[in-house]
Amino acid sequence: MIFQKNISLKPYNTFGIDINAESFISVNSLQQLLDVISNHKDIFILSGGSNILLIKNISKPVIHLNLKGIEIIKNNNLDNNSVFIKVQSGENWHELVLWCIENDFGGIENLSLIPGNVGTSPMQNIGAYGVEIKDVFQELEAIEIDTGIIKTFKKEDCNFGYRESVFKNIEKGRYIIVNVTFKLSKNIHQINTSYGAIQEELHKKTIKNPTIKDVSNAVILIRKSKLPDPKEIGNSGSFFKNPVISTQHFNQLKKQYPNIPNYIISDDLVKVPAGWLVEQCGFKGKRFGDAGVHKKQALVLVNYNKATGKEIYELAQKILKSVHEKFNINLEIEVNII
Ligand code: EPU
Repeated sequence: MIFQKNISLKPYNTFGIDINAESFISVNSLQQLLDVISNHKDIFILSGGSNILLIKNISKPVIHLNLKGIEIIKNNNLDNNSVFIKVQSGENWHELVLWCIENDFGGIENLSLIPGNVGTSPMQNIGAYGVEIKDVFQELEAIEIDTGIIKTFKKEDCNFGYRESVFKNIEKGRYIIVNVTFKLSKNIHQINTSYGAIQEELHKKTIKNPTIKDVSNAVILIRKSKLPDPKEIGNSGSFFKNPVISTQHFNQLKKQYPNIPNYIISDDLVKVPAGWLVEQCGFKGKRFGDAGVHKKQALVLVNYNKATGKEIYELAQKILKSVHEKFNINLEIEVNII
């Protein structure tokens, strides 16, 4: 366990926001974590720091989760083509994806290069290129902060939705996810190339029967071509969720904007890409001091170097207002504002 006083959280959040934490405790084991929460209840849990925007100094103890380990679980009831892996929350997500590919375990290759750690992946049901974590999720263990009791959450307990789970709404702040178990395929994989950009990449390389590694490589290329690397430019991936609007509203917009991209959700609902809406409002590539909107993907807000969390937040508010005025759509912020 490592204790520190008054440290900058800049290296601990992918936005690279320089915010002070009065006290910082890094825990390496479940026992250390249980000890800490028996003494502190009002805490701030920090994992990979990839989905937060820090807008003010943090006076509560910051608990940095550094639990590591990947375990292949034996299960006699399992079919020959499946494997369970139990992963500790502090493991880096993309390194897990690469480990799975090396071991020929399939299911998360489309989720390559997503920043952050395993423990937070179920919180927002991370998703990309046609796959969401819920598709491979088996269960997770989480500590209830008030009691110190470890509880198991099955898939049905998590209430997964688009970038949503109970841990982001009704159970927010009550639990610390300590490990997640995934059910993956081995040997024979269900390759998901439904996303057009993946097909294009595979086509370019004349790959007809892609392996999970081919899909992962394609996703890595696509992401690198449009999303900024947090190691180079601070960011938190998609800052906004893609909004869902009524078909009636969509049809009105389509008259004015015939090329508006969309995904039909049901007879009554249509999802519209937030990146397109933000771009139409003229924000793509715009920079206000060190806060900006990425030049290749308007859904991503960036910190060029010294932007404060407040500056990024103010830019987000400007965008929300502008999208509302132009399209009568209220965008929802995906990132947690702290
Ligand atoms: N678009 C624009 N301008 C932009 C960005 C996008 O016009 O600046 C248009 C594109 O032309 C395309 C449509 O919007 O027609 C969709 O764009 P894209 O395929 O890039 O996907 P997205 O809907 O913008 C979502 C996720 C991403 C995920 C991709 C791929 C959300 C909020 N974002 O983006 O997730 O990687 O799909 O599956 O759902 C993340 O969560 O951090 C993230 C990057």
